[in-house]
Amino acid sequence: MSAYHNIVILTGAGLSAESGLGTFRGPGGLWENFRIEDVATPEAFARDPVRVHEFYNLRRSWHKQALPNAAHLALARLEREHGGNVLAVTQNIDALHEAAGTKNLIHMHGELERALCAACGTSAPWKEDLSIETLCARCGEAAMRPDVVWFGEMPREMERIYEALGACDLFVSIGTSGTVYPAAGFVMEARAAGAHAVELNLEPSDGADLFLERLEGPATGIVPTYVDRLLAG
Ligand code: OAD
Repeated sequence: MSAYHNIVILTGAGLSAESGLGTFRGPGGLWENFRIEDVATPEAFARDPVRVHEFYNLRRSWHKQALPNAAHLALARLEREHGGNVLAVTQNIDALHEAAGTKNLIHMHGELERALCAACGTSAPWKEDLSIETLCARCGEAAMRPDVVWFGEMPREMERIYEALGACDLFVSIGTSGTVYPAAGFVMEARAAGAHAVELNLEPSDGADLFLERLEGPATGIVPTYVDRLLAG
């Protein structure tokens, strides 16, 4: 049982790094080998859907082999054992939070293991490759795309997220560089609501100064330690 009642956790690629999924920025990051404007915008998909499908098919194949790590498991334990509310908001499109057992979860940047029909708007679980020939099971159109949020598109469930931020007394940001909005602005929303704000990251993020407390290190070390501390009250 922790001293806090309403906890919002924001997670990013650093949380899944030790599950073998790369991060986006920094040395070896995904955006070093691919350009956002070639693979992660609606314009890129309109111009060259084959290339965009290849990019996400490749990432789906990596994600299939990944397992939740000690940090995902610790966050699921926090949700189970904390007496109040815990909402996890992830920018990650992998399914590792759910695999670890987290239930109250928002995928604000969508999910790689879902496909969306651009013709009829149907979203469905999807574990296989997608191509420009893949047909929608509902309307029959060949207009399937990964159900992810691209740059220039609106992140998911923002109303629910801002409501939770406005009511939280603890905000914890884990494994995110704090460079992509709106997620990078969540710490200010939480602080405006009077919440304590903590950053758990390998290194100081772009917005590190906005946090009242920071722990540095790999997520599999610092997240379980921090969760133990929280649950101890
Ligand atoms: P980034 O790649 O920008 O940042 C990852 C952060 O995790 C960095 O601050 C690293 O220092 C930290 N990190 C790396 N390994 C870690 C570890 N083992 N333990 C703890 N921290 C570690 O990833 P995000 O912030 O998630 O959006 O990126 C945000 C968004 O930008 C993504 O959702 C994606 C991307 O472009 C879209 O594609 C729309």
